[in-house]
Amino acid sequence: MAFTILSHMRSSPVIRRVGAFLKQRVVVSDALKVYYLRLARFLSTHGIDPPLTIPAERWEKRWSEQATLGAEDGPELYRSCDDSTEKLFQEVLPLLDKNSAILEIGCNKGRHLNYLFQKGFRNLTGIEIGKSAIELFAEIFPDTYQNSTIIVGSAPDEIRKLKTKSFDLVFVHSVLVSIGTKHNYIFSEMCRICRGYILTLESEGSWTAFPRDFQYMFEKNGFNMVSYRWLVWTDDKKSLTFPLPVNSKSFLENNTIRLFAPRVSESGTKLFRFQQNVSRY
Ligand SMILES: C[S@@+](CC[C@H](N)C(=O)[O-])C[C@H]1O[C@@H](n2cnc3c(N)ncnc32)[C@H](O)[C@@H]1O
Repeated sequence: MAFTILSHMRSSPVIRRVGAFLKQRVVVSDALKVYYLRLARFLSTHGIDPPLTIPAERWEKRWSEQATLGAEDGPELYRSCDDSTEKLFQEVLPLLDKNSAILEIGCNKGRHLNYLFQKGFRNLTGIEIGKSAIELFAEIFPDTYQNSTIIVGSAPDEIRKLKTKSFDLVFVHSVLVSIGTKHNYIFSEMCRICRGYILTLESEGSWTAFPRDFQYMFEKNGFNMVSYRWLVWTDDKKSLTFPLPVNSKSFLENNTIRLFAPRVSESGTKLFRFQQNVSRY
């Protein structure tokens, strides 16, 4: 009931304008933003849409229509890798062999799949909701596209069709925070289909997205977080990573790279080579 009222309120234009006004006011206070993000993360983790978040249907529409004329995300976006790609993969790639089955959720034009293809990986799968992004993928990276399995559709629907324990690596780069709370089951689905590692790079500092307690989401489904790094963009669009957040405020305002492995290893010690005693922040 409370949930229904809240979702009606969030789709009202008046409430949205009040929200936008508050966002402008609140943005001056870092402390308030941190408190809001903590609340938003708690709500999203427990299946409730945070008050200032853009409704999930609008996120889906935006991503489905990307790269079309007038869309918010034009065709130039996500064409080539920036240096967050190196940083995302640096820990996990040495643990994989070239036949490893790898899935990217939200692959867009395939820049990361192409990066892996260039490194010799040949068992690649991508799921992407934006049809036009996939058309550009085929045009920009034809070899990678033709030699990969590309599924066009919404990840929460498509992932349910994939076989249990069929991937050695399941990864996302900036995707989960735009998937709505009614699809929170995507986390358990990612764990179901994965027999190796789960790797995430997500921004947890947005007013309008669905931040989650990613550690909790995967750990409650039988995975352990084996490492996490804080990733910060510099003014010249380079990225820097740090082993731990400097403090919780910086942590919430930026991106994190997290690596998870099954708590019970199928392939012995290899999975736990990087196991650290990661405490909750
Ligand atoms: C911020 S972009 C990042 C793109 C890509 N991961 C990269 O870094 O190049 C988010 C991507 O996730 C995709 N996406 C968002 N929601 C999705 C959904 N429900 N199902 C499949 N893809 C989705 C978007 O279409 C978009 O390509």
